Amino acid sequence: RIARLHAVEILDSRARPTLSVTLETDSGLRVRTGVPAGASTGSREAVELRDGDEERYGGQGVRRAVAHVNGEIALALTGQRFASLEEVDATLIDLDGTPDKSRLGANAIIGVSLAAARTEAAQYDRALWQHIAALAGAPPLLPVPHFNVVNGGVHASNNLDFQEFMIAPLGAAGLPDAVRAGAEVYARLKARLAAGGHAVGLGDEGGFAPALDQPEEVLRELVAAITDAGYTPGRDGVAIALDPAASELRTEDGRYRVAGEELTSDQLIDRYEEIVDRFPVWSIEDGLGEDDWEGWERLTARLGDRVQLMGDDLFVTHPAIIAEAIGRNVGNSALIKVNQIGTVTETMAAIGVCRGAGYTQMVSHRSGETTDAFIADLAVGAGCGQLKSGAPARGERVAKYNRLLEIADAHPELPFGLAVAADGAPGA
Ligand code: PGA
Ligand code: ZN
Repeated sequence: RIARLHAVEILDSRARPTLSVTLETDSGLRVRTGVPAGASTGSREAVELRDGDEERYGGQGVRRAVAHVNGEIALALTGQRFASLEEVDATLIDLDGTPDKSRLGANAIIGVSLAAARTEAAQYDRALWQHIAALAGAPPLLPVPHFNVVNGGVHASNNLDFQEFMIAPLGAAGLPDAVRAGAEVYARLKARLAAGGHAVGLGDEGGFAPALDQPEEVLRELVAAITDAGYTPGRDGVAIALDPAASELRTEDGRYRVAGEELTSDQLIDRYEEIVDRFPVWSIEDGLGEDDWEGWERLTARLGDRVQLMGDDLFVTHPAIIAEAIGRNVGNSALIKVNQIGTVTETMAAIGVCRGAGYTQMVSHRSGETTDAFIADLAVGAGCGQLKSGAPARGERVAKYNRLLEIADAHPELPFGLAVAADGAPGA
C-alpha cells in the first residue's frame, strides 16, 4: 500500500523549476524520482503545468503541479493497494480526466508514475530494468549511447540551426567501449574546436556550441574528431546521428530556415540526401516538421531504406500517432520520452506499437533534466537498443550513461547493440 506521496519543487539542469516525487509504502519502501522538461516540445505532447506567475521564476514555477501531487493525487492513491503499475497509471489518467493531462499536469503525473514503477520493481525485488523487461516481454539489451556533442537550435545561443549532432559508437564491442569512444571523441572534438579558435562552452545538453552555422561544417569536424580519436567513421566504428528538430526551423510560409536559406521540404530532403552521401550519418530525427506529414511521406520514400528516420515532435511517444504513421509509411523509428505521453504504461504501449511494426526505438532524456537515471533502466529493460542522453559530460547527462555502466558491470551476460528484428534487419 502507498503510505505517503510527496512532491517538492526543485531545479532542473537549466535552472528552471521541476518536481521531485517521493513515494513511501507501508512496508517501508521509499523511492524518489525527478521529472524532465523539454525546450523544443512537440505541440501534441502531454501538457506540462506551469504556474504562469511572472513574479516567480518568470512564470515557470511548478507549485500547482506540486500541489496536485500532494493534494488530489495523494488523496486518491494513499492507503490504497494497487495490483499493478498499470492500475496506478489508469487511476492517474482517470483522475486527470483530460486527453492531454492538462488538468493535473503531465509533469505531476509522470513523476508519480515513475515512482510507482520504481516501487513495483522493488516489491518484486528486481532491479528497475529487470522489472521493465518483465513488463515489456522483450529481451533486455544494453543500448548504443548517442552522445550529443554539438548543440544548436534552441539548446544553444550560436547560429547553428540544426539542434543536435550525435556520435553513435555502433561498432563498439560493448557498452563500456561505447562510453569510452564517446568520451574520447568528445575530448578530441574539444581540442579541435579550441585549436580552430572556437569557444568550447557547453549547450543545454552538454555538447559544444561553436560559432558554425552550416551543418556540413560541423559534420566535417565530427568526422575529423572521430578519426583523431582513432576510430573509424561509420557503422563499423563511430557513426553520426542528427536531430535537426525541424519543427523549430519552420518559416511562416512553411519553409525551413537553414543557415540563412529558406528551403522547401523537397529541398531539405535533397540536402539530407547529399549529407547521407557524404557523411557517415545513420539516423535523422525530426528531419521535417511535425505538421509536414506529406513531406515525411516523401522523405521516407527517398531515404527510408538508407537511414533511420525518427519521429520525436512528430510522434510525441503517442501510441495512436505512431500507429497512424505506420499506416502512412511515415518514418521508420520513434523517439521515446516518458514525459511526452505522461505515464510509464503508455510509454511501454508506444514501444510495443513500434516493435509490432518493425519501427526502431530510441529512449531519450529531455534538454532539462535531473540526475534521475530512470531512462537508462527503461532503455535496457525495454530492449530498445538505443539511448540518447546528451554529451558524455554534465552530471545530469552522465548519470544515465553511468547507470548503464553499472548495469553492464553487474550483468556481463547482457548483450549490447541495436535491437535486431526477427528477419535480421535492424528493427524492433
Ligand atoms: P527537448 O529536445 O528536450 O528540448 O524537447 C530534445 C529533442 O528534441 O530531442
Ligand atoms: Zn528531437
